[in-house]
Amino acid sequence: MTTLQDRFGRSIDYLRVSVTDRCDLRCSYCLPKGFKGFEEPANWLTFDELERVVAAFARLGTRRVRLTGGEPLLRRNLPELAGRLSALPGLQDLSLTTNATQLAHQAHALRAAGVNRLNVSLDSLQRERLHTLIGRDGLPQIMEGLATAREAGFAPIKINMVALKDVNDDEVEAMAAFCIEQGFVLRLIEAMPMGDTGRAAGFLDLQPVLGRLRERFGLVPQSSELGGGPARYWQTPDGHFTLGLITPISQHFCATCNRVRLSVDGTLYMCLGQEARYALRPLLRAGISDQGLEEAIREAIELKPERHEFRERPDKLVRFMSMTGG
Ligand code: 5AD
Ligand code: SF4
Repeated sequence: MTTLQDRFGRSIDYLRVSVTDRCDLRCSYCLPKGFKGFEEPANWLTFDELERVVAAFARLGTRRVRLTGGEPLLRRNLPELAGRLSALPGLQDLSLTTNATQLAHQAHALRAAGVNRLNVSLDSLQRERLHTLIGRDGLPQIMEGLATAREAGFAPIKINMVALKDVNDDEVEAMAAFCIEQGFVLRLIEAMPMGDTGRAAGFLDLQPVLGRLRERFGLVPQSSELGGGPARYWQTPDGHFTLGLITPISQHFCATCNRVRLSVDGTLYMCLGQEARYALRPLLRAGISDQGLEEAIREAIELKPERHEFRERPDKLVRFMSMTGG
């Protein structure tokens, strides 16, 4: 079985696909208020092009794909794309990251199209606070979306909470209690300095937060992988509650990075925190063969940097998370 290997001996078997850079929210740490600089529709990869690229990755050993954005549910007919991707030979897992504002309308169709796992971004359970944080009074729709997703049978459903100093750090326990009640996995994420928005976000070191939660909920480290990503997990002894920590800043996990990202304009981004990239769209539109496409992907993987420099060079990245998908 082939797997893509980078220069540092890492196997790349996970692809994140941003299906749109647009978003209906303006999370303070992600997109500036009033931001309009989105990609032209003419430059969006079509479903045919997306399917071609993902199929090529699958032939090269990619087993797992996550659809992301921007907000992926804003891409018209997303369930059709999900169905086409989940049917590709070799792919074993199709998942989705969403802000859930539109999820109530699409959860069943997406589940039927073969999406198994769902990550939902939710940074506060307080309606006013969330409104301020995401730029919209969205909590009721998000809650409805989550309820529909549960009903549709996604498993697991993970809540992604970006923990921000003096913004929502007083709510971590309440979010944990909510997740316990709903049967969701909670993942706390350290804000990354992507764009001015990410830099302005109050970075919160999660190590002390973990200490607090371990004590409060009696959490023990969980060894088995849950999703195969960078999160480290803890559980209550009865297994009812799982907490994940994503700590790109306080404890980076670049040595085990297994992924690259495809943006909606057909650029492969090799690292969230670096500029290394490879443009596939011109090749696709010039009629490259399947074999040529595989060769291009191999070349791109050669460019994957060893690690991000969020700590050493926090001013480096001007692009927002919404461009590449989290
Ligand atoms: N740092 C950390 N996480 C971020 N996200 C968006 N911008 C940032 C940032 N600067 C998160 C969202 C979502 C995921 C896709 O990325 O909250 O959960
Ligand atoms: Fe939209 Fe996600 Fe960025 Fe929030 S973090 S503005 S939901 S893309």
